[in-house]
Amino acid sequence: MFGRIAHRYDLANRVLSGGIDIYWRFCLVRSVRGVQPGQVLDLATGSGDVAFALGKALPPGSRVLGMDFCTPMLEEAEAKRASQTNLRAAVEFSQGDALALPLADASFDAVTIAFGLRNMADRARCLSEIRRVLKPGGTLFVLEFSRPWPLVRPLYDFHMRHTAPALAGLLTGDRGAYDYLGESIRSFPGRDGLAGEIRQAGFSAVSASAMTMGIVALHTGRR
Ligand SMILES: C[S@@+](CC[C@H](N)C(=O)[O-])C[C@H]1O[C@@H](n2cnc3c(N)ncnc32)[C@H](O)[C@@H]1O
Repeated sequence: MFGRIAHRYDLANRVLSGGIDIYWRFCLVRSVRGVQPGQVLDLATGSGDVAFALGKALPPGSRVLGMDFCTPMLEEAEAKRASQTNLRAAVEFSQGDALALPLADASFDAVTIAFGLRNMADRARCLSEIRRVLKPGGTLFVLEFSRPWPLVRPLYDFHMRHTAPALAGLLTGDRGAYDYLGESIRSFPGRDGLAGEIRQAGFSAVSASAMTMGIVALHTGRR
């Protein structure tokens, strides 16, 4: 599914979110910078927006590895490299399945996953793989859709059920992928539920912060 929409993925993100997705990724990157990581894995990197934003925010000498199992998404990421003029950290992309990461144990200071955990066929296994590749004391950052505040939920639900799939159908030619987006958000746990799953996977100091009226949340946890 992501292979089918890869060529218009960024455009659809900007239009459907009204551009606020850039701010959500900025908040994620700001939090990651706070833990001063040397080695960062950006899992489910897609077209690489988080990986490149980290590459601009982290100091020289740091390394960001963007990993995804979808070749067309990784091709979109590589195609954007030429326009990323102010990278400071090294940014690389590699193919890999988040449920069986082709990476050594305890090799990263931080792992980010933005709008990716919701798409995993097995969340517990993905979280366990992330924990395995994090160094002891390393930090997990999960940026995901969450449960909007009750006041805005009717409008948000209307957007996700009707406007977003219709607009995305026009932009990407694949309305079905965006019907899936709404369904996957509705069946994804809220902040407390996801925090519980992260704790269950063995992370400590788990915290969750809501953004934009609860539409999105940033969860963190320490290995
Ligand atoms: C909604 S996109 C998010 C992309 C990017 N992180 C962003 O912020 O826009 C979800 C990504 O998860 C990837 N994905 C889903 N399951 C995966 C898996 N098992 N292993 C690796 N990547 C996976 C998809 O290929 C897709 O690129």
